[in-house]
Amino acid sequence: MLAIIGAMDEEIELLLGDLQDRQDITHPGVTLHRGTLDGVPVLVTRGGIGKVNAAMTTTYLLVEGATRVIFTGVAGGVHPDLRVGDIVISTDLVQHDVDVTPLGYEPGTVPGETPAWHADDTLRDIAMQAAQDVEGVNVIAGRVASGDQFIASREGVQRLWKTYAAACAEMEGAAVAQVCAKAGVPFVVIRSISDTADHDANVDYRTFMPLVARHAKQVVRGMLARLGEGTSGEGTSGEGTSGEQARA
Ligand code: ADE
Repeated sequence: MLAIIGAMDEEIELLLGDLQDRQDITHPGVTLHRGTLDGVPVLVTRGGIGKVNAAMTTTYLLVEGATRVIFTGVAGGVHPDLRVGDIVISTDLVQHDVDVTPLGYEPGTVPGETPAWHADDTLRDIAMQAAQDVEGVNVIAGRVASGDQFIASREGVQRLWKTYAAACAEMEGAAVAQVCAKAGVPFVVIRSISDTADHDANVDYRTFMPLVARHAKQVVRGMLARLGEGTSGEGTSGEGTSGEQARA
């Protein structure tokens, strides 16, 4: 079962509107929507903002049988070539707000965990293909930096660029990645750029977020079309697919 998460209503409402045979599943703090989208069985949900909400929601999705996870939403651009509307597909993800450096860990490293969580190659390739169909925007594969902070300063952008070589900044992806990695479930994060995370980021975010959120959703639909070409839309990755039959 493919799961699709967005942080906010704007990020998933168009997907929910087209969900067939919808069934709502309520857990404490979050409602998941099971159904079929473009012929592919899916779980869709609004996970809320920030890493804690993202981790909690991902856990519920895995409990409900998700065997692959796509996160869709907007981000602040960090890579200097990115403009509003452009798209970043995750190669890997870091938690830029983690700091255990006094104990000798690198910035961003959670003790006992990998310094960066790698997105699934197959999902990333399919997302890249689908993103090429969005007209008039640049698409890059790059590192996504997540933290419980809205980045809105030149210094903030520089820190993420210099310390992490991040392509974009957002608030959920690496938490989704951490939970999925623990369960061996493949994931990818798709982010369209709503602002460039500098001093005008708050204004740009409010102006462009609803518009560019559509780009990310367009990528999801393009992915569904490609995944739906198989019989069940499953089985593109060897990792994390155990238990799929029982859960389907
Ligand atoms: N999501 C969209 N823009 C962002 C920014 N500048 N910082 C963090 N998350 C974001």
